[in-house]
Amino acid sequence: METELVTRMKLVITGAGGLLGSALLKSAKEYEVYSFYNQHPPASGSLVHVDLQNQDRLTDALRRVKPDVIVHAAALTDIDRCERERDLATAVNYEATNTIAKCARDLGAYLVYVSTDYVFDGEKGMYREDDEPAPINFYGQTKLMGEQAVGELLSACLITRASVIYGSTPSSGKVNFALWVLGALKEGKQVAVAADQFVSPTLNTNLGEMIMECVEKRSTGVLHLSGASRLSRFDFARKLCKTWSLNQSLINPVEMRKMNWLASRPKDSSLDVTKAGAFLRTGPTSIKESLHTLKEEFDSREGTG
Ligand SMILES: NC(=O)c1ccc[n+]([C@@H]2O[C@H](COP(=O)([O-])OP(=O)(O)OC[C@H]3O[C@@H](n4cnc5c(N)ncnc54)[C@H](OP(=O)(O)O)[C@@H]3O)[C@@H](O)[C@H]2O)c1
Repeated sequence: METELVTRMKLVITGAGGLLGSALLKSAKEYEVYSFYNQHPPASGSLVHVDLQNQDRLTDALRRVKPDVIVHAAALTDIDRCERERDLATAVNYEATNTIAKCARDLGAYLVYVSTDYVFDGEKGMYREDDEPAPINFYGQTKLMGEQAVGELLSACLITRASVIYGSTPSSGKVNFALWVLGALKEGKQVAVAADQFVSPTLNTNLGEMIMECVEKRSTGVLHLSGASRLSRFDFARKLCKTWSLNQSLINPVEMRKMNWLASRPKDSSLDVTKAGAFLRTGPTSIKESLHTLKEEFDSREGTG
């Protein structure tokens, strides 16, 4: 009997233990995956511990792996922490991205950089890929600097932008917006949610699949990859509540200016995903479909069928 030797392409995922990284791992089964992490070891792949503040160690790790593809999903995502700890935010979100882009160029690797709707000021909403970024907080500034570094150093690269990512499982030691709302409501606790902040909530597994399809297609340029529906955080919370048949009266609408936030948030950073919808097999899903999938994923995690 002949033995077939199949060489799989090498894929580095940074932030592999995070909300998006954990979903990417599920969609990347055909690759030899190297899971880069810092504080939270990812569930699968060959684990590579790298603190992105250490640029030499990061370069060394990438040179050793020699990846064909890098999906750079790691970032300091705590918006208020970025505002407070600017050196840390700059090192992780910009300098490490610059280093990764240089390594991708030197190694001939295809790079996907995951960016954010927070590169926009939120005055317009339903942003298209060619709209002008104008971040209003330090997190958005550092992510935009990352986009610029990637764009200047590479042509074989894709910059994707997502918005309020959520999923069925805690990751990197924290719960996401959807799990926070569901957890509180199930315990009968009141939640205060911004009613005047509009976003395009993005299910992590839908995003992971879309990104891996872009990898397969070697898509380049800028692409908005988020959920297909624009809604306020309050409406998002209400739809979660309805899907789980919980008590809607526990969700209290508040104005953004009354939230105890250090950094400013864009009022409407929703994303236009027409471009992605037109050429991806696995396109951006509507809020209805996404919440249906979330419930299925949640129930199978809980083992309740
Ligand atoms: N979450 C959102 O709502 C949202 C919205 C739009 C865009 N995005 C973008 O989407 C991407 C994925 O976000 P996410 O939601 O998956 O974030 P997340 O769950 O907070 O995960 C962030 C990841 O970054 C890693 N990381 C942070 N600091 C690091 C460091 N110093 N060294 C190495 N790794 C480090 C973390 O690793 P450890 O846990 O191992 O330390 C973690 O796996 C990010 O680029 C983010 O900017 C997120």
